[in-house]
Amino acid sequence: MAERVVLAYSGGLDTSVGIGWLKDATGKEVVALAVDVGQEGEDMDVIRQRALDCGAVESIVIDAKDEFANDYIVPTLKANALYQKRYPLVSAISRPLIAKYLASTAIELGADSVAHGCTGKGNDQVRFEAAVAALAPELTSLAPVRDFALTRDKAIEYAATHNLPIAQSKKSPYSIDQNVWGRAVETGFLEDPWNAPIEDLYTYSQDPAITRAPTEVVISFDQGVPVAIDGKKVTPLQVVQLMNRLAGDQGVGRIDIVEDRLVGIKSREIYEAPAGMALIAAHEELENMTLERDVARYKRGVESKWAELVYDGLWFSGLKKSLDVFIEDTQKYVTGDIRLKLHAGSAVVTGRSSTTSLYDFNLATYDTGDSFDQSMAKGFIELWSLPSKVAARRDAAAGK
Ligand code: ARG
Repeated sequence: MAERVVLAYSGGLDTSVGIGWLKDATGKEVVALAVDVGQEGEDMDVIRQRALDCGAVESIVIDAKDEFANDYIVPTLKANALYQKRYPLVSAISRPLIAKYLASTAIELGADSVAHGCTGKGNDQVRFEAAVAALAPELTSLAPVRDFALTRDKAIEYAATHNLPIAQSKKSPYSIDQNVWGRAVETGFLEDPWNAPIEDLYTYSQDPAITRAPTEVVISFDQGVPVAIDGKKVTPLQVVQLMNRLAGDQGVGRIDIVEDRLVGIKSREIYEAPAGMALIAAHEELENMTLERDVARYKRGVESKWAELVYDGLWFSGLKKSLDVFIEDTQKYVTGDIRLKLHAGSAVVTGRSSTTSLYDFNLATYDTGDSFDQSMAKGFIELWSLPSKVAARRDAAAGK
């Protein structure tokens, strides 16, 4: 029996041609695997059939939307994860999940390798292969576009000569990746970082310049997990879907950034993540109410490290797993309600309430009858600044 390779299949031109290309280059039978992470667009059944029509021996579709929300988006939210303080890791968190299914399918079907359609210039190749390496070190990773020089021109020509059923009409000048957590758009005229984005780029969000009446929404969290919207219980996937609509309609979550890729290239990226940006704003503010000061301060540093590890393809690494344990421990009192006002491109917290809050009105109030003894502040500052005072005296004595 011929060796088999499991290819992460999107239904697009590159991976469709990749099926035949891989077979020609390696002699292996190609199993296509499409993972539904809420990318919407085409029907997954159409995609499954297309892989067979393009020469796959087997074609598998996995609906991983809930798993993606529960096990990948929720940890990202608990980490308030924003790479370079701006990018909510849209593509970065889908790759380890797809890679997990590549590895398990390969093992199940006795394949010796997996494959993906990434080029050699991006982060996604690293994320797929590093995840597979961590989960199934015996498997080899192949990348037809990168390793067997499958350029776009050659792909179009191959599809035409082999009569592959791929719509040539979709001649998007952009490279797009999307899932329920957001959308990433790159290349085309965006490669000139001076060019402003145009309205056509966006599909998850409306133009924030078009003013509408503000939307108010109350998000309830239980130990860091969003569990209800306006009092109605929902799953994490439903929270994200609903918030994409509510926040997207108000133009929330558009990001335009020059980003540092792991491979050393700076690239201009447009993202839209309406639910992501709104939920992170809400979750972070609930932490401000419920985390002890030093835990909150320390966590902000952990969050940026976590985001870098995940961006860099190290989802299944030891450090990332250890940071997960820390983050999880911080979430035990992150329970309560956040009121968000969504309007003109921004998601602003206007109210918070929590039964596990550390906010103490009697300590905070400037009205009479507060329980904070102000006389203690004087001595506290005396001791707090003592090291500075001693050092200042030393500096003066040293003639500075
Ligand atoms: N630069 C982003 C990242 O590394 C987005 C990549 C999106 N992929 C794509 N084929 N457009 O996460």
